[in-house]
Amino acid sequence: MEKKDLDWGNLGFNYIPCDYSYVCNFKDGAWEEGGLTEDHTLTLSEDAGIFHYCQEVFEGLKAYTTADGSIVCFRPDLNASRMADSARRLVMPAFPEDKFVDAVKQVVAANAAWVPPYGSGATLYIRPFMVATGNVIGVKPADEYQFRIFVTPVGPYFKGGDTSVKLAVAKYDRAAPHGTGNIKAGLNYAMSLLAVTEAHEAGYAENMYLDSKSRTYVEETGGANIMFVDKEGNLVVPQSATDSILPSITRRSLVMVARDVLGMNVIERPVKFEEVLAGDFVECGLCGTAAVISPVEKVEGEGVDVTFPDCVGTSGPVMKKLRETLVGIQTCEAEDPFGWVCKIA
Ligand SMILES: Cc1ncc(COP(=O)(O)O)c(C=O)c1O
Repeated sequence: MEKKDLDWGNLGFNYIPCDYSYVCNFKDGAWEEGGLTEDHTLTLSEDAGIFHYCQEVFEGLKAYTTADGSIVCFRPDLNASRMADSARRLVMPAFPEDKFVDAVKQVVAANAAWVPPYGSGATLYIRPFMVATGNVIGVKPADEYQFRIFVTPVGPYFKGGDTSVKLAVAKYDRAAPHGTGNIKAGLNYAMSLLAVTEAHEAGYAENMYLDSKSRTYVEETGGANIMFVDKEGNLVVPQSATDSILPSITRRSLVMVARDVLGMNVIERPVKFEEVLAGDFVECGLCGTAAVISPVEKVEGEGVDVTFPDCVGTSGPVMKKLRETLVGIQTCEAEDPFGWVCKIA
């Protein structure tokens, strides 16, 4: 397979249109067959539901080239089920989960020349999404939808590798409390744009969101879950009291890797921001499909200045080991004890 002529080692996290997208419409109460398209645009009625009541959900996953030249992706079944949960929450028809996995395989295989080569540090980002295309004027769900997947080659989301980043304490809530934050929907991300823009302008990589109900507990960041290592070496993973932390596939996988592969002690529990302020944690990391695991050296905000001592300038040993082990499984360099890797080509 002849790869495209791109500067693979220097890709940013930007959209580069590839050869094919996948498209499937929902009409008259049913999903059509669906298939590949070379048209990367959508033409919609000015009255389409997406423009007014924001019925949109999306997902994100990656495909990798392995050392033997195969193309694989990681746990696409979990993206399929999370997207179906997101859709149900916004009263959209769930895209069938087996059809989702099949669509991912089709669109990645068709764009094999765009999957960055092994060892380049880049990956093919896969963005499934669904929008309300049917007309609505009263506040109610639309009756027509389009599910689409595009792919685009990407480099690191944060600085990458071992370089640690700084977080700001978010000034604004990103979403309504009580269960609305656990879906991947454009409307929640729109609510985070002001906070993330201000954080970037002030030199931070991201925001640390507190729970919007009590502003007492650490939730996550705008595009990644968060995890800590305490002074005893336990991996401490925040749980949300209000069901408003996105159920990250990377985080759920890392918890299993830490426990079952690395034999670590993992504690999943609500984490008070007070504990962070008290300096209880020696490492902090952001985890997600885009972030992989990015070490965090500092959290700052009004009256807040906390350093994670083992992550100053570089990754702490625990975050580093977790990243190496997870990436090893994802790229088939390490054994995949859980059967997570999905071969595409
Ligand atoms: C708000 C938020 N949290 C966490 C994640 C990480 O989730 P995953 O590991 O499934 O990519 C993402 C990824 O898109 C995200 O947007």
